[in-house]
Amino acid sequence: MSAVLVTGGTGKTGKTLVRLLRDAGVRARAASRSPATADPDALRFDWNDPTTFGPALDGTDRVFLLPPVESVDPLPLVEPFLRRAQRAGVQRIVMLGSAIVLPNAPSAVELAAQVQAQPGGVVLRASGFMQNFLRPHPLAEHIHRRGEILTAAGDGKLGWVDARDIAASAAALLADPKVDVRSDYLITGPHGLSYPQAARIITAQTGRQVRVERIAEEEQASGYRASGMPPEFAAALAAVERGIKEGRQDRVSTAVLELTGRPPRTFAEFVSDHACEWTQ
Ligand SMILES: NC(=O)c1ccc[n+]([C@@H]2O[C@H](COP(=O)([O-])OP(=O)(O)OC[C@H]3O[C@@H](n4cnc5c(N)ncnc54)[C@H](OP(=O)(O)O)[C@@H]3O)[C@@H](O)[C@H]2O)c1
Repeated sequence: MSAVLVTGGTGKTGKTLVRLLRDAGVRARAASRSPATADPDALRFDWNDPTTFGPALDGTDRVFLLPPVESVDPLPLVEPFLRRAQRAGVQRIVMLGSAIVLPNAPSAVELAAQVQAQPGGVVLRASGFMQNFLRPHPLAEHIHRRGEILTAAGDGKLGWVDARDIAASAAALLADPKVDVRSDYLITGPHGLSYPQAARIITAQTGRQVRVERIAEEEQASGYRASGMPPEFAAALAAVERGIKEGRQDRVSTAVLELTGRPPRTFAEFVSDHACEWTQ
């Protein structure tokens, strides 16, 4: 029997992907450490427990791969899974990667190369998620509590993308294992947008006053640590803001339109869909 294994199947991207695949009549197995008991196609999967890899790959011919989150060195955990997937005859693996390579995390680049070397291996290099503006992300928590965005990125722009559009792009690649694909897609929203511009859109559309407080990279890292992120990952994530500030992330692509047949959501549409986040 053919099925798509969706790792991170309860997360922001994975949950939507599971729904889209099932709506299209494709069997999707939602994998996570805490699978929903009400879902007969949910299964337990843990990157830290390789004994969960075999049962997850059993009966699977396509995989959505969400690497271990909040890790600067995902390769050692994912490599054995990739070897096993190849032996199991998996025909397509679509990995959710990042447009931004975290500083001090070179294994992410090697991981992408290893996925692309697999049969039907595809990497989605996603830009910053619009969902970072929703709780429980620390950015959103701070807006909620203080009406403030703390950033070291200045007026630098990022091609923010809605995770629902990432999921739709992945669904297009996974629904039919025979469809021709490239090995690499840059997945972005329609426009580059700075934090001050994003704050103005939230304020204009919801009435919630959102100020932008410019802070140093170290202060940002310390805030991420305080929110519970591992220190190395917090430092790498804060350093990303330097690249944004220097204009290195001001990139947009047409991949969502090419893959899904419709343009990616704008930030204004995202805010409108989640207006209650800022009006409560
Ligand atoms: N946020 C951004 O701006 C951005 C930009 C580019 C790329 N990304 C990438 O996007 C990914 C996050 O995607 P997302 O936001 O859709 O996910 P998410 O909402 O953070 O959810 C994470 C998923 O992974 C599962 N998970 C966590 N730890 C796991 C483990 N040890 N073993 C197996 N499953 C585990 C979680 O379920 P359980 O907790 O139940 O296991 C959940 O289903 C990250 O890899 C990040 O690098 C993010």
